[in-house]
Amino acid sequence: MYIAITGRETNLALAELEAVFGQIASLSKEVVGIELENLSYERLEHIGFTKKFAQTVKESVSLDVLANEIANAMLGDTEGTSKLSFGISWYCNKPANRRSYLDLAKKVKKQIQAHNRSARFIQPKEDFALNAAQIHYNNLFKKGCEIILYGNAYQPSIAITRWAFNPSLYSHRDYDRPARSAKVGMFPPKLAQVLINLASPKHTDIICDPFCGSGVVLQEGMYAGYNVVGSDNSEDMVVASQKNLDWFSKEFHPKNTFVLSQGDARNFTAPKSSFVVVSEGYLGPGLSEKPNHALLQPITTNLEKLYLDFFKCLVVQPNKPRAIVITLPFWQTTTGISYLNVIDQITDLGYTIRQFNSVNSAQLLYRRSQQIVGRQVLVVELKKTN
Ligand SMILES: C[S@@+](CC[C@H](N)C(=O)[O-])C[C@H]1O[C@@H](n2cnc3c(N)ncnc32)[C@H](O)[C@@H]1O
Repeated sequence: MYIAITGRETNLALAELEAVFGQIASLSKEVVGIELENLSYERLEHIGFTKKFAQTVKESVSLDVLANEIANAMLGDTEGTSKLSFGISWYCNKPANRRSYLDLAKKVKKQIQAHNRSARFIQPKEDFALNAAQIHYNNLFKKGCEIILYGNAYQPSIAITRWAFNPSLYSHRDYDRPARSAKVGMFPPKLAQVLINLASPKHTDIICDPFCGSGVVLQEGMYAGYNVVGSDNSEDMVVASQKNLDWFSKEFHPKNTFVLSQGDARNFTAPKSSFVVVSEGYLGPGLSEKPNHALLQPITTNLEKLYLDFFKCLVVQPNKPRAIVITLPFWQTTTGISYLNVIDQITDLGYTIRQFNSVNSAQLLYRRSQQIVGRQVLVVELKKTN
């Protein structure tokens, strides 16, 4: 069995893992079990909201033999006689106790030394788990390993990390894009990856973003190996996408192509071949403080009309999208959270909202604390007609 350690956006992470792997089991807040023969590392690089994938080597180990079992797992997994660097990350159902945690690390080190190998324990920077940067910085996939303990704190299961999010590769794709300002740059590539995965595109599908902005979805679509088509009603944003995707093509040499044009999403023209729509839609005018009902009402009326017109336009296309994944804005107002009221009208048009086993589809929300506007993720398919 493999496990995934999710980031803090648990609901979106679960939906994404379910869309990619099918059957998954939520084992605890951050730990998800996935039955797999083996991991496709190429695929993992494109999963947005999972921090680590690990392979279970021993389940439900009693505490008195835990150090021994961890040392055996590490020795069996690392070849050679060179110094073995290791970390122990605790994801059990009860918080770790500092003393017993350090005691365990000491015992593991001793056990490894008893096998004539020197060992170096890497202390987590935060709490009791290594962060992804520490794993890469200490070269743990080559010079040792990260052990993950999960499940019952009195009888933990042992897993070895096989993949971890690579912050430096990621930040290059995020912060080094040339057309990036605080205003247009707040849509993280990780979220774009999640949206793409939720659309479950086939290898040959085109990814279309009719609100392409500065091209984050398009970039991550190309990064994952898809041809992409983007449009935006603002000429400036089409220019920004062009700059960013030219830069991305130079830096990453993707095999795939992008096509951009200026146009209104309400007049969207579908490509002739199989495609999915993936987009962070228009969020409305920027707000500097929490809106009250009177301020928000005209904004939501306009946006509801925009999105309904967009869905109406899609439904009459001769070539229909296989899936539509779009984020709609929601707001923290002076009195609570306010959503767009469009779901019923969208389903009346002949669309269905995809349901997930692991999470309620109405709870696929993304909002940074302090942000006034958040994104509600809709995963929509056309009703099958017989
Ligand atoms: C939040 S941004 C989209 C970000 C983008 N999806 C990405 O991946 O970077 C929203 C964009 O929608 C565009 N927009 C607003 N109304 C539109 C419309 N009616 N048709 C097409 N684009 C529109 C805005 O110009 C803006 O660039």
